[in-house]
Amino acid sequence: MKIAVANWKMYKTIKEAEDYLAAFLPLLEKNRNTEVYLAVPATAIQNVSRKAFSSGVYTGGQNISTEERGAFTGELSAEMVREAGASFVLAGHSERRALFGETNEMVNKKIQRALENGLQPILCVGETLQEREAGQTEEVLAVQLIECLSGFEPSTVAKMIIAYEPRWAIGTGRIATPQQIRHVHTLLRRELAEGWGAACAKQIPILYGGSVTAANAKDFAAIEEVGGVLVGGASLDPTAFATIIKAFG
Ligand code: PGA
Repeated sequence: MKIAVANWKMYKTIKEAEDYLAAFLPLLEKNRNTEVYLAVPATAIQNVSRKAFSSGVYTGGQNISTEERGAFTGELSAEMVREAGASFVLAGHSERRALFGETNEMVNKKIQRALENGLQPILCVGETLQEREAGQTEEVLAVQLIECLSGFEPSTVAKMIIAYEPRWAIGTGRIATPQQIRHVHTLLRRELAEGWGAACAKQIPILYGGSVTAANAKDFAAIEEVGGVLVGGASLDPTAFATIIKAFG
């Protein structure tokens, strides 16, 4: 099975989310070979999960707190997001890292909270353009992976979904080349194998994210190493996202 994740970011009210589903769900094929995940604003999780469930579509959050509960104004716990109807959550998206100061250590705690509450974590990793140009891609990605997954048993890490999203490709219209993607996927699997064993490294889906569109999705689907895609901008349009899903079968 391949995986297609929509990341709506801070777009769509409950009403807009419902209109989206009314257009989107009928476009999905019943016998598809791709699991569909919608990471929606927290306010829409309950409505979206209720409506999307019967179509086999997973609803999730885009972020959770590092803490279980407490005096953390404005934060949402994994338990709350889970109770609202989420079955997964993004962890360490580059916008959280770049705009809200999220560190690998915080991402590690968020993954812990997600797992404790039965939420599937989707760990996002990716280098900046500056890091790539300085030849630091491999090191940066290895550190992100190791620190974000530090302390977890192989049996736990085996359940992860990882998304490689080069930061310079997110929302920019620039995409990584098949060669760059293959190189990073191989690197991530090597690090996973070293840290948590070969069996674990083999079974984790590694997605690509960054400027995926209805027009270029087929190119990513053709790369054997790519387990699916994480889509931002293009996922806001139901027809475009359905086309992306179809590209993966
Ligand atoms: P994009 O975003 O598809 O708009 O580049 C990807 C993401 O934010 O994960």
